[in-house]
Amino acid sequence: MNIILLGPPGAGKGTQAEQIVEAYGTVHISTGDIFRKNIKENTELGKKVKEYIDKGLLVPDELVVELVADRLMQDDVKKGFMLDGFPRTIFQAEELDKVLSKLGTKIDTVVNIEVNPDILIERAVGRRICKGDGSTYHVKFNPPKKEGICDTCGQALYQRDDDKEETVKNRISVYTDQTKPLIDYYTKQNNIANINGEQNIDTVFEDIKAALGSDK
Ligand code: AP5
Ligand code: MG
Repeated sequence: MNIILLGPPGAGKGTQAEQIVEAYGTVHISTGDIFRKNIKENTELGKKVKEYIDKGLLVPDELVVELVADRLMQDDVKKGFMLDGFPRTIFQAEELDKVLSKLGTKIDTVVNIEVNPDILIERAVGRRICKGDGSTYHVKFNPPKKEGICDTCGQALYQRDDDKEETVKNRISVYTDQTKPLIDYYTKQNNIANINGEQNIDTVFEDIKAALGSDK
């Protein structure tokens, strides 16, 4: 099964992705995670994308499309993949359609997680991520058992550089201008499932499972 996770910053894409991977065994492809790894390792790509991410702006389409196209050509994605944070512009969506058609495959479901902006800011600012296994927590909504420490691997939690309130506001406005039009794009393709992301994490996951069905 091939899935796109769509939704504004802080909607819960990464949180739900962790559960979807566990339940369906799909390969999780998060462009944001790939960029952050490259920034941490100071690669050429990392140097190119850092200034955009720090400002809450989108990385230029040409850098993202090639990266995802290469990733989708690898063997492991044949068992099913989940794109998280891609596509983010109409251009990216059109390019994705071309790549998938060349590969003889398609997107089965676009999971669109809907959350209002006032809630998004609190979610992003309170988010904490594990340095070790990348698990996502929230200081209030999904706290670890021991403050600042990952439940599963015991490593320290950190806050993303782009989770400052001002940057989050920019990211939300970039989402509204450039990414939200994708809801119409996929509604026309008739493969979108709109999910109420304002419920608790487990209820959101139940709704996603109902939308995806039991296929793997
Ligand atoms: P990216 O990493 O994709 O960030 P994003 O889209 O802004 O989304 P987030 O990761 O912030 O939120 P999320 O929806 O995953 O929420 P999460 O589950 O963590 O992109 C970062 C940057 O990279 C972009 O700004 C851009 O610069 C660049 N980039 C990436 N892809 C690109 C592309 N295709 N084109 C161009 N540029 C690109 O949850 C958030 C918090 O809320 C957590 O603390 C969580 O515990 C909590 N939470 C989750 N669900 C719930 C719930 N139901 N109730 C209460 N709390 C919840
Ligand atoms: Mg995320």
